[in-house]
Amino acid sequence: MTTVLEALHARRSIREFEPEPVPADVVHQLVEAAGRAPSSKNTQPWQLYLAQGAALERLRTDYLAAFDAQRPGKPDYAYSPSPLPDSWMARAKEVGIGIFQHKGIGRDDTDKRRAHDRENFRFFGAPQVFFLGTKKSAHAPGTFLDCGFVLDNLMLGLTSLGYGSCPQFSVMVYADLLRQHLPGSEDTLFICALPFGRPVPGSHVNAFQPPRRPIDEWFTVVA
Ligand SMILES: Cc1cc2nc3c(=O)[nH]c(=O)nc-3n(C[C@H](O)[C@H](O)[C@H](O)COP(=O)(O)O)c2cc1C
Repeated sequence: MTTVLEALHARRSIREFEPEPVPADVVHQLVEAAGRAPSSKNTQPWQLYLAQGAALERLRTDYLAAFDAQRPGKPDYAYSPSPLPDSWMARAKEVGIGIFQHKGIGRDDTDKRRAHDRENFRFFGAPQVFFLGTKKSAHAPGTFLDCGFVLDNLMLGLTSLGYGSCPQFSVMVYADLLRQHLPGSEDTLFICALPFGRPVPGSHVNAFQPPRRPIDEWFTVVA
């Protein structure tokens, strides 16, 4: 049995998956547990879609076609402030460069960099993908906080069960495709994708672990 603290330490972004899907009963238990998330006034403002099987393959095909055609798209919301504060930008650059170095991709190797980006649009080959959203017609910053708890519950629950996942904002650029492929999502604002499954054992890319800030940089105790 993995404790919550063990799962918090063990979770990392997984970018290479085995093809076998997580069994339906396990997915059901996971989603039930993730739905225990707290929310302001118990509004539970999230919507969760699961794409798998033939439906996921159709979506993946359309995603890759859009990426390959360099079709412009637009996420349903701005994830970050623009420009990023300097210290945030430094860490964002560090992780961007770090993953390329980890994969042995050179600074000027544009083909390999594009192939790396393309992996996002095939959802890293995952057998299943969650898409988390909320109401397009009614949301405020706190709504995203509530939905974030569900996302973290899913990620930690998957880790505790021996599975892995990778949150993705990059693919939200084609939220219009999600509304086409996911029935009943006309009024859904798409927040994040979460490909998941069994991590490939010994995978090199999955060993990538970006560093964390020492807590004394961001944690203040007043007594
Ligand atoms: C909301 C969100 C969106 C993210 N989007 C992407 C993405 O599109 N592609 C990707 O490879 N990683 C994505 N990540 C993963 C981050 O790069 C990763 O969480 C961070 O570098 C820390 O690494 P770790 O998750 O392995 O601890 C995202 C993470 C979050 C929380």
